[in-house]
Amino acid sequence: MNGLRAVIEEEIRERGPIPFSGYMESCLYHPQFGYYSRSAEQFGKAGDFYTSSDVHAVFGRLLVRQFDEMWQALGSPDHIVIKELGAGRGLFAQDVMDWAEKKSPDFLRALQYELVEQSPALRQRIAATLQRRFESGQVTFGSLEQSDDCPVIVFANEFFDAIPVEVVSASGSLRIDARDGRFVESWAATSPEESEYLDRYSAPPEQGERLEVGLQSQELMSTAIGFERGFVVVVDYGYTRQEQLAGRHRGTIKAIRRHAVSGSPYEAPGEQDITADVNFTALEAAVEQQGFRAEKLVTQSQFLMGIGEDTQFADAFEDCRLPQERAKVALQLKHLVTPAGMGESFHVLVASKGVAEEKTASLSGLSFGKRNLRARS
Ligand SMILES: C[S@@+](CC[C@H](N)C(=O)[O-])C[C@H]1O[C@@H](n2cnc3c(N)ncnc32)[C@H](O)[C@@H]1O
Repeated sequence: MNGLRAVIEEEIRERGPIPFSGYMESCLYHPQFGYYSRSAEQFGKAGDFYTSSDVHAVFGRLLVRQFDEMWQALGSPDHIVIKELGAGRGLFAQDVMDWAEKKSPDFLRALQYELVEQSPALRQRIAATLQRRFESGQVTFGSLEQSDDCPVIVFANEFFDAIPVEVVSASGSLRIDARDGRFVESWAATSPEESEYLDRYSAPPEQGERLEVGLQSQELMSTAIGFERGFVVVVDYGYTRQEQLAGRHRGTIKAIRRHAVSGSPYEAPGEQDITADVNFTALEAAVEQQGFRAEKLVTQSQFLMGIGEDTQFADAFEDCRLPQERAKVALQLKHLVTPAGMGESFHVLVASKGVAEEKTASLSGLSFGKRNLRARS
C-alpha cells in the first residue's frame, strides 16, 4: 500500500475528516512521503513539470537586470537581500549569481542571497549546486521572517501555486474522509474566514462548482514581507477576481504527473504534484495590508519583453557560438514569452515599499511598450 495513503487514513481515523488543505499539505510536504520531500526529481524533462528556470538560464539573467534596477531605485544601498521563496533546486539562484558576477559586479557586492526552501531533499540539492557560493557566505538558507533591517527583494517563482488551499462549494468547505481504502469527499460549514475571502477576492460558488480559498498564501506573504524598504516580485500562473467574475478560473486544482494532468488528486498521494492557480487579487491585498504599493499586474511576456527589449535579449544569446545553438536558445526564449508557452498564462506581481512611485513605475519589467511610445511622442 502507498505509505502516505496509510498515514493520511490513520490521521482521519484519529481526528475525523480533514480539510482539503490538510490533505494537500500531506501530499506535498509530509516529511517522509510528501511529493517535495521524497527527492529532487520532480523538475525538468525526466520529472513531472518544467519551471522557467528549467527552460533556460535567460530567465535568471533577465531578472538580474531587474533586480539591479530595483537596487538602484533604492539608492544603491551597501546591503540588499534577495529572499527567494520556494527555491526548488536552486537553479534560479545559480543563474542570478553567475550573471550578476559577470554583468552587475556592483550590485553583486551589495547582495546577500537567502534561499527559503522547506524540502530537505531539495535543500541538499541546493547546497551541492551552490557549494562555492555557500562557502563564501554570500548565499545562505533563510527563513520567511526578516532577520535584519536592510532593504529586501522577495522573489517567488511558482511558489504560491504549491501552497495548500481550501476548496469551497455551494455545499460548504471540502473535507476528506476515508472509507474502504478510498478517500471520499464530504462538506462542512464554510468558516467565516473562508466566506470573507470569497467575498473580497473571489466570488460565491455556483451550484456544482468549486472555488479555492488561499488563506495560507495570504499568511505566508504577510510573514515574508515584514520589512520597511524593498520589493516583492511574484511570478506564477493565476487570475484576478475580475477574471473569476467573468467566469474564468473557477476551480483550478490540478494533479500533475509526468507533464500531464492526472485524473484525480486522490490517486497515488505523494507521487503526483497538486497545484492551484494563484489568486493575484488576494496576494495584492496581502501586500497592501503590509503598506506595499502593488503595481498593475503584467503578463510574464510583458515583463520579460520589457526587460529584454533594449538589448534584444543579448543576455540569452551571449554564450552561443554556432547557429544551431542560437536557434535552440531562440526556441527556449519563445517558450518563456509567447502565449503558446508560458508568456500569457504566467503573470508577474510587482509591489514596493519605501520607494518613490515613479521609480517603481519606470522599472523595465513594467515598461514594455511604454518606452517606445515615450520616445516617439
Ligand atoms: C513548484 S516548486 C517551484 C520551485 C522553484 N521556484 C522553481 O521555479 O523551479 C515550489 C517549491 O516551494 C517549496 N515550498 C513550498 N512551501 C514552502 C514553505 N512554506 N517554505 C519554503 N519552501 C516551500 C517546495 O518545496 C518547492 O520546492
